[in-house]
Amino acid sequence: MPRTCGTKTLVVLQDTVHKYFYMDLINSATDEEFKRRMQLYGDGYHYDNNVRDGHGETFRVLGKIIGDWDIDLYVANQRTIPAIWGSREESPDLIYWAKLGEDTPNLNRIVDIFKFTRVLVANIQTQKPGACVTRHLDDFALFKESEEKKIRILVFLENWEPGQSMCFGNTVLDYWEKGQVIYSDFEKIPHSTSNASWVSRSILAITGAISTETLQILAFNFGTVSI
Ligand SMILES: [Fe+2]
Repeated sequence: MPRTCGTKTLVVLQDTVHKYFYMDLINSATDEEFKRRMQLYGDGYHYDNNVRDGHGETFRVLGKIIGDWDIDLYVANQRTIPAIWGSREESPDLIYWAKLGEDTPNLNRIVDIFKFTRVLVANIQTQKPGACVTRHLDDFALFKESEEKKIRILVFLENWEPGQSMCFGNTVLDYWEKGQVIYSDFEKIPHSTSNASWVSRSILAITGAISTETLQILAFNFGTVSI
């Protein structure tokens, strides 16, 4: 059903494979609208704690995925490897990574939702109780060989537990739900995570090169998707 967004007309399309809806702008003058909708503080984060960021300013919720991937997560977490950031002296950062594979079909379907032209890396990051990742910027340097526009999104694989948190800019994110998807400009907005709960926290982090469809999801969100 068409609807308007500013002066543009939107059409709701359905992806019959993934059963999700996204918006398509009918006419071509969309660049400014996309830019406006995707604008975070990424072009120049203020680093001023007296300026409190609000939700939606340093990260955005893109939608929610409904499905059952508990077995996939369990299987993948049997092969986790610990990783620390060696560049930071006395770093307390510790995260456990696991790659997806043929034995994680439901998680693979989640990756497909975002229509990347190329998935650069998709892995599970499990943060155990007591661990944290101190404030930092991501560096997509490993993938700088191409001119493609690359982004990173996060999918929460389990419901939030009290004591777990993320911080983007100076906004704390908590109380997330299983399947919730968030986007931030991880290269330009400082972020951190911590787990002061008694329960491990697992997310799926996907870094990929964006397509037109990915851009539409970023700009207009995707609502709720069942896999
Ligand atoms: Fe990061």
